[in-house]
Amino acid sequence: MTKKITGFIILFLAVFIGTSAMAQMPDADPKELWNHITKISPYTQWKFWDDHPGMVKGREPHGSFHKVYVNDQAYGSHSAPLKYGAIQVKENYNKNKKLMALTVMYKVKGYNPDDGDWFWVKYSLSGKAKPYGKPAGCIGCHGGRASNDFVLVHEFE
Ligand code: HEC
Repeated sequence: MTKKITGFIILFLAVFIGTSAMAQMPDADPKELWNHITKISPYTQWKFWDDHPGMVKGREPHGSFHKVYVNDQAYGSHSAPLKYGAIQVKENYNKNKKLMALTVMYKVKGYNPDDGDWFWVKYSLSGKAKPYGKPAGCIGCHGGRASNDFVLVHEFE
């Protein structure tokens, strides 16, 4: 009996914590997302994929070097598709390792079901978003890996 009650309490807490974490997630909106990744949950405190740590030499068009930070929802996704709420922030550096721009993928339920429900944004360092939304460019290039949920730097099982 006590076990059952403990089980219920744990379930209740999990649902409660889960929904309140979701409630804090931004809409598919470039300003809200910028606020989230710079102030509410600064992305520089997130994790890297285990198979893509720190500064890595990149392929075109994103620039010479990059770092890809992932939030808990992304890091905790062990198979494709990623969990809703997953965010990946890619810092794009030039050949002199100077930070130039951020490119971001944010998984939002119902946003774009045909293409993995990703909200795509390229930000300048001051947070100006261009392009954002469902850019054909981002989707076209990443779409070759739709089976890996459009993620290129990390392999899911
Ligand atoms: C011409 C191909 C191409 C286009 C267009 C493109 N990407 Fe990428 N993207 C890549 C490659 C290749 C990588 C893997 C890292 C690397 O080698 O630079 C990548 C990695 C990423 C990552 C790191 C997570 C992952 O999926 O691996 C993010 C975030 C990202 N791109 C966002 C964007 C956004 C936002 C756009 C549109 C503004 C975009 N990309 C357009 C090729 C592309």
